[in-house]
Formats: sequence, C-alpha cells, structure tokens
Amino acid sequence: MITTPNQEDIQAGQSIYTQKSLLVYDLMVTRFSNRFVWQCPRKTLIDFFKEHTSINHLDIGVGTGYFLNQLHLVPGKQRLGLLDMNKACLEHAKIKLNQFAPEIYQYSIFEPFTSISKKFDSVSLNYVLHCLPGNVAQKAIGFDHIKAILNQNGKIFGTTILGKNVKHNGLATKLLTIYNNKKIMHNLNDSCDELISELRKRFSKVDVKIRGCVALFVAG
Ligand SMILES: C[S@@+](CC[C@H](N)C(=O)[O-])C[C@H]1O[C@@H](n2cnc3c(N)ncnc32)[C@H](O)[C@@H]1O
Repeated sequence: MITTPNQEDIQAGQSIYTQKSLLVYDLMVTRFSNRFVWQCPRKTLIDFFKEHTSINHLDIGVGTGYFLNQLHLVPGKQRLGLLDMNKACLEHAKIKLNQFAPEIYQYSIFEPFTSISKKFDSVSLNYVLHCLPGNVAQKAIGFDHIKAILNQNGKIFGTTILGKNVKHNGLATKLLTIYNNKKIMHNLNDSCDELISELRKRFSKVDVKIRGCVALFVAG
C-alpha cells in the first residue's frame, strides 16, 4: 500500500518559499539555475507552457506565477486556478495574475481538492514533484487528486528535476546534495522510468522528454 509522506517532510518541501525569498526566486531559479544548473532554460519551459495551457487551466505549485505571466493569456476569456499549500506563493502569484481574477485554492497536493467542483481542461505542475517527499509512487498520489478535477479530455503537464539516471553537471550535483540534505528537495531517487510508470497507471497517453536533468511530461 502507498502511504502519504509525513506532514513534517511535506511542510519542509515548501518552507523555503517566503515573501522575501519569492522576491529573488525568478532571478536565482527561473533565470540562472534553469540554464546553468539544471540545463533546461526558461525559454524551453515557457514554450512548454504555451503549448499545453488551455483557457480552463489550473496551476499547481504556483511559486511567483512567473510562467503563467509569460503566456499572453486573455483576461475575460481565461479561467485560471492557482493551487498551492503555501500562502505566500498564492498571495504573490495572485497579485501578479490579478487581471485573470484567479480562483485560489490552498491545498497540499497530498490531499483531495474537495472544494473544486468545476473541472479543468489542463493542469500544470512545474518544478513541484522534486519538492515533494517520498518515492515517485508516493508523489504520484498527487496525480490521483489531479485526475479527479480534470475533464475527460483534459491533460496534465509539468516538469521535475530528476536525481537519477540523468547527467548532472558539477553545480547540479552540489546543489542536489545541499537541497536534499535540507529537505528543500527530495529527488535523489527520482528517475524518468518511475515517472513514466506512475503516469501510465493513470493516463492512457503519456509523453516524457528529458532536457538537461529535467523531465518534461504530458499525460491525458
Ligand atoms: C520550486 S517551486 C516552483 C514554482 C513554479 N511552479 C515555477 O516553476 O516557477 C515549488 C512550488 O510548489 C509548492 N509546493 C511544494 N510542496 C507542495 C505541496 N505538498 N502541495 C502543493 N504545493 C506544494 C511550493 O509552495 C512552490 O510554490
């Protein structure tokens, strides 16, 4: 039986995102680390979001709201949901994306999203799985909760930094060790094969590509 990771470790995976740290997040992570550490430049991620975001979209693990803000979504025509367990992230992203009158949901991905009654056509999960404690099978409990609020032809897409069976440069190896020791990341044992296997258990169409040490996945 797959068990939910303990609450302390779940909290640790999001505790670094504070009002203060979010002010430098886009510069340090989105711009610098994506290109030079994880070797998956932000342009790749923006294009990925552009390709898969629908007009009825939910973003999970919102961070600063950076990627959604790059997409030229049309206010008035766009339904946008923001879901995160971290209040600071939700508040930061809500201000940035205010023109879309976003629906705000404060949940951990490990709990069912019971207040979402109207389903979504697309759900993004960008750089969230590597923050979650547990093995890939435990992280995939989140896929079940997403599937429950996805329309029948809807899709889930996202990215995650892998710890296993991808090539890490020197900086990536160092940062992975530090972040995993601090429990900011929990991904040393995450592999692409396991990710594919957990997605295939739940979705009929699964596509996963690797860029640098990042997996880009789409499933529906
Ligand atoms: C690395 S940031 C990614 C932010 C944004 N998606 C991006 O790519 O720029 C991880 C995000 O996942 C959220 N998060 C971490 N653990 C979570 C959990 N158990 N449930 C929901 N959100 C979580 C954090 O609060 C944060 O917003």
